[in-house]
This record gives sequence, C-alpha cells and structure tokens, in this order.
Amino acid sequence: MSQYDVIVIGSGPGGYVCAIRCAQLGLKTACVEGRDTLGGTCLNIGCIPSKALLHATHMLHEAEHNFAKMGLKGKSPSVDWDAMQDYKKDTIGQNTKGIEFLFKKNKIDWLKGWGSIPKAGKVKVGDEVHEAKNIVIATGSEPSSLPGIEIDEKIVVSSTGALALSKIPKKMVVIGAGVIGLEMGSVYSRLGAEVTVVEYLDTITPGMDGEVQKTFQKILAKQGMEFILGAAVQGVEVKGQKAKVTYKSKKDDAESEIDADVVLVATGRKPFTDGLGLSDLGADMHERGQITTDDHWKTSIDGIYAIGDAITGPMLAHKAEDEGMAVAEVLAGKAGHVNYDVIPGVIYTHPEVANVGRTEEQLKEDDTPYKVGKFSFMGNGRAKANFAADGFVKLLAHKETDRILGAHIIGPMAGDLIHEICVAMEFGAAAEDLALTCHAHPTYSEAVREAALACGDGPIHS
Ligand code: NAI
Repeated sequence: MSQYDVIVIGSGPGGYVCAIRCAQLGLKTACVEGRDTLGGTCLNIGCIPSKALLHATHMLHEAEHNFAKMGLKGKSPSVDWDAMQDYKKDTIGQNTKGIEFLFKKNKIDWLKGWGSIPKAGKVKVGDEVHEAKNIVIATGSEPSSLPGIEIDEKIVVSSTGALALSKIPKKMVVIGAGVIGLEMGSVYSRLGAEVTVVEYLDTITPGMDGEVQKTFQKILAKQGMEFILGAAVQGVEVKGQKAKVTYKSKKDDAESEIDADVVLVATGRKPFTDGLGLSDLGADMHERGQITTDDHWKTSIDGIYAIGDAITGPMLAHKAEDEGMAVAEVLAGKAGHVNYDVIPGVIYTHPEVANVGRTEEQLKEDDTPYKVGKFSFMGNGRAKANFAADGFVKLLAHKETDRILGAHIIGPMAGDLIHEICVAMEFGAAAEDLALTCHAHPTYSEAVREAALACGDGPIHS
C-alpha cells in the first residue's frame, strides 16, 4: 500500500493538470487511469483527434475551393482515409505520450486501472488499496444517447465512433446541432458525405448569441450541410448496413423519415462516475448525475473533491483544467480560484465560432444597459486576402461604464482571437481599452479592435 498526499482519479485535462499542479506545489501525487494511455476523452477520443480531422479536411476544402483562386493550379488532393486515420492516431500518440513524460518529470505515479473509493482516504485500484490525505475525482463524462436509440459505434455512432468510421459514409444524419454534431458533421461534409443535421430546437448551437447562430447556419448551409430544425428525433432503426431516422416536427407533429449510412447521435454528454462507489459513500449528487461540490470543489465528504465534467458547469476541457489547477492550490493551502464568468467556448469548424461572457439575449433578459460594437471580417484586409472574410466580431459593453460584458466571434481563428477579450475581461477592461491598444497590421485581430472602436466613436474600415 502506498501513501499519497493526493490521488487524482482520471487523467483527462482536469485530472492530469490537477496532478501536475499538485506535484509542482510539493504534494506527493498519484493519478489513477484505466485507459492504456493518459489524457482521457479529450486527448484519446475527443478534442485532439477531432481537431486533427478538422484540420486535415479544412486543408482539403482549401485545396478544392481556394487554391486555384490564389494561382495554385492542378489536381486537388485525393483522400486516403486510412492515412488520415494514421495521422489522427499519431497526433493522439504524441499528445498522450507527452502527458506520460510530464508525469515522470513531476514524479507523479500513474496507478494503472479503474479506481474506486471504498472510504474517504482510500482509493482501490485493482486489488491494491492506496491511501491519500485527499482524493480528487476527475472522471469526466460519456456520451448520452436518446431513449431507445442504441449506439453500436458502427452505423449508429457517438462522437467516439464518428472519429473512427471504417469508411466515409455517403449519407450521414447528425442528431443534435450542438458542438459535436457541427464539428463532426463538418468533417464528413468536407469529405464528400451528404450531411443532414436534425435539431430539436429552432436554432443551431443552443445558448449561443442569436446573430452568430443565424450567420453560422447560413455559412454551414452554403458549405453543403442541410438542417432540419424544430424536429424531435423519435427513433433510429438499423436494417443491414443502413439506418432510418424518424423525427417529428414540433410545429405540426408530422412524422418524417430520413435514410442514412451513418447516424451520429450528438445530443449531449453525461457525467461518468460509474464504479467509483459514490452511492455507498453517500456522496450528494445533482439530479442529472453530477457530483455536488461546494465553492472549493469539495464534495459532501471531507477529503474528497471533484472537478470537470463530473460536476456542474460547461463540459469543456479548459474549464476542467482551471478547476484542476485551482483545487491543487486549495489542497496546498493556497487560494484556488476560477472565474466562471470568463470561460471561452469555441467551435472548431471553419469559420471558427468563439464566445465569452454574456450574450445579447441574456443582457436583454436581465435589463442590463448595453451597447454593441460589431465589425465584419469583410473590412479586414488579412481575412480578404485569405478568402476568410465570412463572419464578424461582436463586442458587448456596458452602456454607461463601457466595461466589456461579452464577445461573440464567427470568423477565421475566432478561437484564438477570443483570448485578448478574455484577458481584457479579467482585468475589468472597457471597450475603449481594447480600442486604444495598438494591433499589428495586417492581422485578424484588428477586427477585434474595430469592434471595440464600434462601441465608441466608430470603426475605421466600415
Ligand atoms: P450539445 O449539448 O452541445 O448539443 C446537443 C444538441 O442536441 C442540442 O442542440 C439539443 O437541442 C439537441 N437534441 C437533444 N435531443 C434531441 C432530439 N431528440 N432530437 C433532435 N435534437 C436533439 O451536445 P454535444 O454536441 O453532444 O456536446 C456534448 C458536450 O461536449 C457539450 O457540453 C460540448 O460543449 C462538449 N464539447 C465541446 C467541444 C468544444 O469545446 N469544441 C467539442 C466537443 C464537445
């Protein structure tokens, strides 16, 4: 039996970051992981592999649609799906091995196997029981399907199966126009599949700024994706190598069917806490399966903490990472803190979509006086040169104080551009602070500055 200051269960972005920070702060740390490789869903079957496929297929799209316009003539590349899968696997391998290296460097023990907590202070992995002053649960989430729809990961797939299809389907139906549906739908649409997205709500990407939703849907439709909105999927029937998706229109209850070679169920994820022994421990849980924690990520049981997708809040790798660092600091006697008001969200389609802070709809709802500064990438020289001028930056600032309240970007590198606004918000900056900051020319980030100028005396290039 080994004794630790901290045992972290789960090695995804929440868990591995927490373990590294604990070790850096002088705590004797172990991390339990049952997968063959470290990194959890994000590195193995989530963020990283999907970004590899998004990158490869975006390159293909550029070759097919924009190369000739730049004077790059010749045949577009053909797709070698197996080789693309190898590239994806290689990317995963480099990242997961990187975490293994960081564990060794920080002297973190990897306890291989699936962990459970027989009681506070003890973690069982296989036949061995390890002791720890504190335990951090960072076990993440798993895909949740719809009632009656069985995922076989071949014809009816979750995001996991969608990353590793044996071949590119001719027809794909995506259930759910959320982040996973649109990212993976984009991948297969660029690879030539006919992609239809069926969404229960009347808009795509629920919760996002309304103007972004509309522009985003238009752009994706122009790229070839079809949308059936306001439609509740009733069931999926698999016959041989094909599937039939039935859905009901919310407007008139009319039932329709649509055929597919592959159906991607992307209707959300649920916390993964199976086998931890939480109910025997009597840990308080939320109705939807998340572990209840206090403001310092402590569960209802002393010495047991929880972070990431296993608790409430957005299911995002970087939110889990921040909580991982913060809880490590709490355990080391410091003041761990996460500013939940400034957590960016990014959809890695092309163009990318990124947001932080409040939406215009939320500001209206709670009667906050606000102003909007909007700037189209059509007025950005770099975006025009790169055939990436679709989209805009929208900055929301307080009408009286000018303090930045939120930002919504659809456009090139939106996922990177959002961060200067995050930093500004962390510092409580006004839109004028961004507007007065010199931005290099020609860069996409000039569009952020122009949006900030639009909150004041007006942008220059529109
Ligand atoms: P989501 O919650 O983003 O979207 C699910 C969609 O399915 C919703 O629009 C919902 O209205 C729709 N839906 C539910 N039931 C339906 C039905 N019966 N018929 C039709 N539509 C239905 O969930 P998603 O895309 O599966 O992602 C899961 C989690 O993973 C999210 O929290 C997301 O933030 C996270 N994630 C984040 C990524 C990123 O940051 N780039 C990438 C991938 C996942």
